[in-house]
Amino acid sequence: MINLFKCGARNAVFMLDPEVAHGLTVKGIASGLMPRARHAVDDRLAVTAAGLSFANPLGVAAGLDKNGEAIDGLVKLGFGHVEVGTVTPRPQPGNPKPRLFRLVKDEAVINRMGFNNDGHAALAARLEKRKRHGVIGVNIGANKTSEDRIADYVAGIDLFSPLADYLTVNISSPNTPGLRDLQAREQLAKLLDAVADAREKAAVRLPVFLKIAPDLTEAGLDDIIAEIAGSTLDGVIVANTTLSRNGLTDEKQAGESGGLSGAPLFERSTALLARMRQRLGPDMVIIGVGGVSTGERALEKSAPVPTWCRSIPVWSMRGRS
Ligand SMILES: Cc1cc2nc3c(=O)[nH]c(=O)nc-3n(C[C@H](O)[C@H](O)[C@H](O)COP(=O)(O)O)c2cc1C
Repeated sequence: MINLFKCGARNAVFMLDPEVAHGLTVKGIASGLMPRARHAVDDRLAVTAAGLSFANPLGVAAGLDKNGEAIDGLVKLGFGHVEVGTVTPRPQPGNPKPRLFRLVKDEAVINRMGFNNDGHAALAARLEKRKRHGVIGVNIGANKTSEDRIADYVAGIDLFSPLADYLTVNISSPNTPGLRDLQAREQLAKLLDAVADAREKAAVRLPVFLKIAPDLTEAGLDDIIAEIAGSTLDGVIVANTTLSRNGLTDEKQAGESGGLSGAPLFERSTALLARMRQRLGPDMVIIGVGGVSTGERALEKSAPVPTWCRSIPVWSMRGRS
């Protein structure tokens, strides 16, 4: 696995503005000129979770390919699943630039993109056009100016159920004001009821995962666990970016607002993963995300706690550009 913070190509890539580098990365992968994965996937890496068959447990997390432009290229690179989005019903520009910052020494990134995306219709058209292969998830969210956020999630479930293999309900981005409030118990209960209802009515019944933040208080964690346990959700994605700035050395960039990802998120997100596994039991699907930059780090995600309660090993990473 390439760690861009350490590999030789990094100097060239790091001369570019981070968001420009991100855009070029997506375009490059979308061009189809990327090499195919060099090795055949070992059958022993195959994982079945939530009724889905993954060729291998390492996937791409939401945020790299928000608009589903590079899905086929990402599958060709060998990822076991590709999660596109977050997508909102209406297209929106996101926050003013600059909104993506590299913390090179910390092997981290801070972003406050704010769900910049082309909207439901554009992503649906791209998904309709492609020949289906690979496990593809659509990560759904709410527009910044939405008057009914729950309705935005329901619209995502209606539209993308026939077009994807799983759906992720993202309530954990720190960059849409008030979005994380949906993690509070009463709001979450309403949201999960609406999601369950929409999923039952949809043309195709897909697995639904909930993506949570790594910054939960004890009480907040208790609330989420109680709601998840009483819901029909198929799994939890742990976790989104953090608001914490603990342990950073790049003081200038650390002052930027937004969510922190990369190496400094590894411990926090893996500790939360372990707690979720202990609290939710061995059968709940948990997808570990945060600071996965090497094969070893990926493996640590599946064994953060004793063997008896290991997580089902499915992880996601975001390529850092
Ligand atoms: C630039 C950028 C954009 C992101 N956009 C989204 C998003 O739209 N939806 C989402 O659920 N997570 C988003 N994320 C969070 C990632 O999916 C992931 O949870 C987080 O970056 C931690 O993983 P990492 O340390 O491997 O990067 C974004 C992250 C970054 C850096």
